[in-house]
Amino acid sequence: MVKKAIIPAAGYGTRGLPITKVIPKEMFPIGLKPAIHYVVEEAIESGIEQILMIVSKRKNIIVDYFDESLELEAFLKRENKQHLIEIVPVPTFPIHYIRQSYAKGLGDAIRLGKAFIGDEPFAVLLPDDIMLSEKEPALKQLIDQFNTYKKTIIGVKEVEKSKLKYYGVISGEEVSKGIFKIDNIVEKPSEHAPSNLAVTGRYIFTPEILSLLDLKKAPAEGELQLTDAIKELLFREECYGKVVNSRRFDIGLHGDYVKLINEFSRINAKRKY
Ligand code: UTP
Repeated sequence: MVKKAIIPAAGYGTRGLPITKVIPKEMFPIGLKPAIHYVVEEAIESGIEQILMIVSKRKNIIVDYFDESLELEAFLKRENKQHLIEIVPVPTFPIHYIRQSYAKGLGDAIRLGKAFIGDEPFAVLLPDDIMLSEKEPALKQLIDQFNTYKKTIIGVKEVEKSKLKYYGVISGEEVSKGIFKIDNIVEKPSEHAPSNLAVTGRYIFTPEILSLLDLKKAPAEGELQLTDAIKELLFREECYGKVVNSRRFDIGLHGDYVKLINEFSRINAKRKY
């Protein structure tokens, strides 16, 4: 059973400068909620019961957002606006936090979750990838697959050739419809991408990945890439890619963020958020 998730949110968000100097991209508004709120909801709707967020000293706004605000609650009660208390986010379980002191890469961020995860399979959700699903949340689709294969499962989506350079790209044999046994993964291929299957920000890992990341440690310079550890994992155990049946919006790309806002203005009438 996959019950724990890591949400890494300690990056600098350089593609979003200058606004990301003060507002983390994970807090970009989509309607009246920040992006990371939707990702927490996706995790909970997928059956996750414990969340660890990786933050940095510049991301206290995320911790504040999910914290209780007794002062605000008291004010809303006094003003007879109790109905608004319900929309202020207080997760049904405590969210745990660890600070990444320096953004040394996604692999380094995930590595910090070792003690929290222990020896269980776990999910990773990148909070700058918003997945809109008609039916099952994207993470739930992966968890269902994990329950069959009991191996690392990476969410992937077909992407047009010109955009592959922004993502990790997998290749492998299709073992059943939309499920690929991965034989290679390449981080942001500038040319010769091994396929058109780009990694989305949703993963289910066996705990083995944490031992591999731990062995690597963070480099003195540059970033510790999650993709490098996945490459090594491929030598040790089978890993699968699953085409997720959801639309992906990478809010680190301005065009995708604008598309997502437009999408929300269209579906807002139908959804509760
Ligand atoms: P990205 O590479 O998309 O985010 O990482 P970034 O580094 O913040 O953005 P750019 O590329 O400079 O514009 C995906 C997720 O991983 C987190 C980020 O916060 C983001 O949510 N991350 C990345 C970390 O937590 N730590 C890191 O060292 C790097």
